[in-house]
Amino acid sequence: MIIDTDAGVDDALAILMALADPTVKIVGITTLNGNVSLANVERNVGTILNAYGAGHIPIYRGAGRPLLVDAPDASNVHGTDGLGDAGFRSPRPLESTHGAQAIIDLAKANPGCTLVTLGPLTNLAIALSLEPDLGTYISHTYVMGGAPKASGNITATAEFNIYVDPEAAELVLQRGNLQSTWITWENAIDHVILWDRWEALLDAGDMGKRFVRPMCTNLMNWGKERNRIGMIMADPKAMAVALDPSCATVQHVYMSVDCGTGVGRGMTAVDPRGFAGKPANAYVTTQLDLDRVIALITTATALPCAF
Ligand code: BDR
Ligand code: CA
Repeated sequence: MIIDTDAGVDDALAILMALADPTVKIVGITTLNGNVSLANVERNVGTILNAYGAGHIPIYRGAGRPLLVDAPDASNVHGTDGLGDAGFRSPRPLESTHGAQAIIDLAKANPGCTLVTLGPLTNLAIALSLEPDLGTYISHTYVMGGAPKASGNITATAEFNIYVDPEAAELVLQRGNLQSTWITWENAIDHVILWDRWEALLDAGDMGKRFVRPMCTNLMNWGKERNRIGMIMADPKAMAVALDPSCATVQHVYMSVDCGTGVGRGMTAVDPRGFAGKPANAYVTTQLDLDRVIALITTATALPCAF
């Protein structure tokens, strides 16, 4: 598995889920600007891997900006450092190859691998521009992104990862020969992890108690102050589907991204009735098996913790 991330609190939990799966070998993690700046993301990925003592996994520096238009970050959700301002700082040295090139190199070195994207699609768009045949090396790509019902979390119509770089997402959809499943924001909010189940999950083991709980404390308080019923955790849901595709039901549709500058910028439009007259280019999730998702998240929080 290759993971592309803008880590991020929920990215961190998703990466730990992949580390917890004995059938998965993470061959590299590529980073990019998104939830917080690239410098913070790079440090966070080192910290996450060190929390599990997984120092052997290479980390690559990717895109520091979207392709065309700069966008806001999500430090209001993830903390100024991106890991909940809990004081975890354990950077690791980076590889010298650019993240976009690393996606290509890692895919060619590991044909049939899975790619999981947990942030904006800038690195993947650059990789596809450099290597149009990338999809022949990757068995399946799992994308956390999109809000096909146009109930966004960064604007009225757009989900964060797609809004940050709509041009990149549209390139991935229209140019990419990737088999891809898109785990949507609406699926994440339709399957909230209620507080009591969330608390139980945090108490499953040392990783939950010593790393994930402190990392999520500000976010939990933020949600409770706003009378939220539980935690949303979008990226762990995407990782759950990557680890066990039976976690999701999907529809195979044509999807495109609004790259305009109006109210719809970053909106992901699905076209199940075929108005565009174009073949399906994406699998989009319609339902998740929340019990299965929570079980997979719990494998991560039950891990030993090196901190
Ligand atoms: C996505 O945006 C980020 O804030 C999260 O890490 C997740 O990838 C949800 O819209
Ligand atoms: Ca993310």
